[in-house]
Amino acid sequence: MDPRRLFRRALAVVGVLAGAIAINELAGKPLPLRWSIFRSAVGANMAKTGQVGDGREKAAVAYVLANARHGDLDDVIRVLDDFARNRRFLMNIGDEKGPILERAITRSAPKVLLEVGTYCGYSALRTIRAMPADARLFSVEISPANAAIARQIWEHAGVARRVTAIVGMLGDSGKTIDTLRRDYGFADGTVDFVFLDHTKSAYLPDLQRIIETGWLHPGTVVVADNVKWPGAPDYLAYMRANEASLWQTIEHEAHVEYQKLVKDLVLESDYLGARTS
Ligand SMILES: C[S@@+](CC[C@H](N)C(=O)[O-])C[C@H]1O[C@@H](n2cnc3c(N)ncnc32)[C@H](O)[C@@H]1O
Repeated sequence: MDPRRLFRRALAVVGVLAGAIAINELAGKPLPLRWSIFRSAVGANMAKTGQVGDGREKAAVAYVLANARHGDLDDVIRVLDDFARNRRFLMNIGDEKGPILERAITRSAPKVLLEVGTYCGYSALRTIRAMPADARLFSVEISPANAAIARQIWEHAGVARRVTAIVGMLGDSGKTIDTLRRDYGFADGTVDFVFLDHTKSAYLPDLQRIIETGWLHPGTVVVADNVKWPGAPDYLAYMRANEASLWQTIEHEAHVEYQKLVKDLVLESDYLGARTS
């Protein structure tokens, strides 16, 4: 097709989509279409800072402090869901996929949990709610600003003693992995649960880094969000290729957080241990 015609067609599609969203917003959002979900998905700012770039994460903290009961974990989760659904979209795991994460934690009763991708600390709250009372969560977050926001929210929820935010990334030439070993006692076979919810293209390399550390043991459960959207196709292919040999995976069909239009997949994978032969 003539490139100019193709461009005009693409412009028309964007125009129709923009019109539909605008009408939807003017009509009080009867459809699960929102600007903010598209903005947050494509925002260049996101890759640099881990935030959408319009101050919504700070606004979410203020909303929690003003509206959630201090020391009430359930209420803080409720208020964050309310903010993300009715005010501004947040890329939390959300209230449809969050229970999948919680059920996986309840099933495995982990003592040491590692999360990659803290954001505002929402999934950590759900994790803490489901994990045993003597368990501890370590959450790795690349953005210092997000780690600070999460700490404020955890403090308000009264759970700050049960979770530690570590600013860093697993792919930083060993710095963060060394910190986890040296300062937080990560050692062979000590990690019972892993939640992956960060840069989607980093899921597989980071899982491979975690396996190489020796921290996992047979029975460790790894949950990964957003495997369908935005999508981690190499991670999905890896889990399918290693089914029943290295991993046993349940694929949970769901929707992208806070709407019902875009489908998503959450993977819950039990580590079977390294093959000996
Ligand atoms: C989808 S959000 C996490 C949402 C959170 N788990 C929840 O459900 O409440 C992704 C987060 O991962 C962080 N991030 C992106 N790449 C990362 C990396 N390589 N290592 C650690 N954090 C990363 C971003 O800054 C962002 O805060």
